[in-house]
Amino acid sequence: MNPSSPEGLAQTGEVDTRGAQRTSPSGSVARFLAWTALGLGMMILSAGLAWSIRGGMEPPSPAPESAPVANVVPPPDQKSVLFKKGRLTYQVHCTRCHGPEGRGDGPDAAVLRPPPRDFAARPWTHGETTEAIRTVILQGIPGTAMTGWSHLLSSQELDAVVDYVRSLGAPPREIKVSDTPTTLLRQAGFEPIEPAIAASPLTFEGLDGRKRTLDQEQGKAILLVFWGTTCAPCMEELPSLDRLASEFAHAPLAVLPICIDEADDALVREVERTRTRQLPLLVDRTGLARIQYDVQSIPYAVLIDSEGRQIGRAQGCKDWSTEAVRELLRTVTSRSANSE
Ligand code: HEC
Repeated sequence: MNPSSPEGLAQTGEVDTRGAQRTSPSGSVARFLAWTALGLGMMILSAGLAWSIRGGMEPPSPAPESAPVANVVPPPDQKSVLFKKGRLTYQVHCTRCHGPEGRGDGPDAAVLRPPPRDFAARPWTHGETTEAIRTVILQGIPGTAMTGWSHLLSSQELDAVVDYVRSLGAPPREIKVSDTPTTLLRQAGFEPIEPAIAASPLTFEGLDGRKRTLDQEQGKAILLVFWGTTCAPCMEELPSLDRLASEFAHAPLAVLPICIDEADDALVREVERTRTRQLPLLVDRTGLARIQYDVQSIPYAVLIDSEGRQIGRAQGCKDWSTEAVRELLRTVTSRSANSE
């Protein structure tokens, strides 16, 4: 067995300690301990670490919310009188065509041309503002089954049903942009970064020699995974990361596995050949990545949302194929699709 091959190292369970020490000589003791612990068992450690960090860093008061974004419909207060009135009005007059949930599947809908549409689909044919919805409900849409309701609804009922229709139209994935999916992050083994911090710029290269930057992924969610060719846990998690990337190939998500040890390309190529099928591996030639992302140990993952904010970090080897990870990424990526 060739000891310099990544497979050989993966099997011996060796971990590179040079990398971490280079980051900042001052913290070498702490780093030594971290690396030693790393060698003892990454999975157990990462779970344990996540716990202790969680306990130690809980903010004393809730983080201040940043300004919400205009196109987001606030979740309705289901107990409010207005909401109940809106729901009742809707059920009495509108459900038979628009369906109980506004999916356009009421009992009368099948024969209608044009059919009533799913309120959760975008764009709305006649506009989604309160004013536009009001006008449609009052005046109807000529030439369609949607007749005007001005003679049947009191102005109070009208206001209520407009709000109710809007709430039906708010897709469940429409999350307040200022929210960080803290629970989902934790379930997926990430430590939430609260408040979120702006992503640092980063330049890296593919094995084809093409320079890439984080900026090029603007508007997408980004999963940065820092790894090294001489790090056994990194080797272990790459196949599941590769599968995750394939699964999200059509989602607005960039999965970027960036090699931060000074390996020659032949070694990285060998890892790519043996550990991944689709996912291209990347290298940090500048040595800046570990500084800009404060990488203390590898593997180390940072999740960046579509707004360019670091919202979570995960230390240690991860199984990227869990449902919790997928759920987190589905949420984070549907938000990027929405905010365009
Ligand atoms: C007899 C069937 C029927 C009933 C009852 C009905 N609608 Fe409609 N509605 C339609 C159809 C069909 C359309 C689609 C028209 C189009 O695409 O141009 C529509 C369109 C709409 C739209 C516009 C959606 C968009 O994409 O812009 C709104 C809002 C709406 N209806 C609200 C209501 C409300 C509120 C009620 C109850 C007070 C109601 N409708 C009752 C058939 C109905």
